[in-house]
Amino acid sequence: MEEELEEMGLTRIGVSLPSNLLNKFDEIIRGRGYSSRSEGIRDAIRAYIIEYEWMEREEGEEIGTITYLYDHSQRGLGDELTNAQHHFIGMIKTSTHIHLDEENCFEVVVMKGDAKKIKELAENIMSLKGVKHVKLTTTHGGI
Ligand code: NI
Repeated sequence: MEEELEEMGLTRIGVSLPSNLLNKFDEIIRGRGYSSRSEGIRDAIRAYIIEYEWMEREEGEEIGTITYLYDHSQRGLGDELTNAQHHFIGMIKTSTHIHLDEENCFEVVVMKGDAKKIKELAENIMSLKGVKHVKLTTTHGGI
């Protein structure tokens, strides 16, 4: 079986996931009509790679928004997010905080300046424990 997979250019991997994450993923791929979980995971990994490669190519002066969702009961996370933003103080034009529900907060940070720095803050936020989702969008000025 493994040899057959290799001949097809495929490698089997084992991944451990929290069951609620897997349940949600299964629900989405069923809704989108995927024939198998493997196909859904392949597409998700492709999307992740494209997103990362796009972020790596960004450079020069840009306007960026970083949106993120986090668990505000995560110990110390609020302070860590504030500290991260203070390192980019001159670039942050505005930020908004929304208390979504008992557990979750949603924030939007709008930045202007070097794309590499915008990306750096987004990556800092992504690396913090308790941050559930981060989305970075950038655009060039002077449009
Ligand atoms: Ni809040």
